[in-house]
Amino acid sequence: MKGVILAGGTGSRLHPLTRITNKHLLPIYDRPMINWGIEALVNAGIREIMLVTGGTHAGEFLRLLGNGQEFGIDRLSYGYQDRPGGIAEALGLAERFVDGDPVLVMLADNIVERSIKPMVDAFKRQPKGARILLTQVEEEEHLRHLGVPSFDEDRRVVGIIEKPEQPTSNYGVTGIYCYDADVFQVIPTLAPSGRGELEITDVNNYYIEQGAMAYDVLEGFWGDAGESIDAYYAVNDFVRGNGANKD
Ligand code: DAU
Repeated sequence: MKGVILAGGTGSRLHPLTRITNKHLLPIYDRPMINWGIEALVNAGIREIMLVTGGTHAGEFLRLLGNGQEFGIDRLSYGYQDRPGGIAEALGLAERFVDGDPVLVMLADNIVERSIKPMVDAFKRQPKGARILLTQVEEEEHLRHLGVPSFDEDRRVVGIIEKPEQPTSNYGVTGIYCYDADVFQVIPTLAPSGRGELEITDVNNYYIEQGAMAYDVLEGFWGDAGESIDAYYAVNDFVRGNGANKD
C-alpha cells in the first residue's frame, strides 16, 4: 500500500503566518506539522510515500525531509501542485506514483492521537472500494466546517455533504482516506465546486453511490490544525500534553 500526504493549498485561514511559510511547516509542539502525518503513515507500515505540495515554500520540504530515510521512509517522492485546485486535484498528481496499488491519503493538517494502523489493516482486508475515517463531533458549528456523513438505519453511510448548513449527523469526515486504484479514474470526471476546487467529498460520494464505501470511527483526539488559529493552538496544546500517533 502506498501513501500520499497532501500539503498544498493556501493556508488562508492561518494568515498571516502562512505568508511566511507553508502551513504544514508550522510547529505542532516540538516539530513541524508535516512530521506528524509522516509518522502516522510510517507507524501504520506505509513506507512508500509521495508528498504533494505547492506555492513558494515547497523547497523547504526537501530541506526538512530529504530522502525520508531518517523518518523511516523507504521511498519518498515529491509532487508539485501549480495552483490550489483542491484536494482531489492534488491527489490526481500521484497517479503514476501509486501505479495501480491501494493508497492511503492523509491531509497534512490532520493530527490524530491514536494510530491509524487499524484502518490501514482493515482496508488491506477489503477487496476494493474506499474507506474513510470518521470522528464524533458534538458542536454544530464545528461540523459546518467539515464533510458530514448521513447514515441509513443499518448505519451505512449514504452520502456526505461538504460544510453543511444543517449537519445531518454528529460525525465529521477526517482527512484520512483509503482508495483502490479506481480513484484515478474518478478524479477526471469531477467538476469544480462552488469554491473552484475538485472536492474529495465528490470522490467519496462516488464510492458511496457504487456501494463501495466502508468506514471506521476514530478513537481518541482528532484535530484539523488548519481550520482556524484557535484550532491550530488547540491541536498544539493537545499534542504537547498527550502526544500523537500512539498505539
Ligand atoms: O480536515 C478534514 C476536512 O478536510 C474534511 O472534513 C473535509 O471534508 C475536506 O474537504 C477537508 O476540508 P478543509 O476545508 O479543511 O480542506 P482544506 O482546503 O483546508 O485542505 C486540507 C488540506 O488539503 C490542506 O492542509 C492541504 C491539502 N490541499 C488542499 C487544497 C485545497 C492540497 O494539497 N491542495 C489543495 O489544492
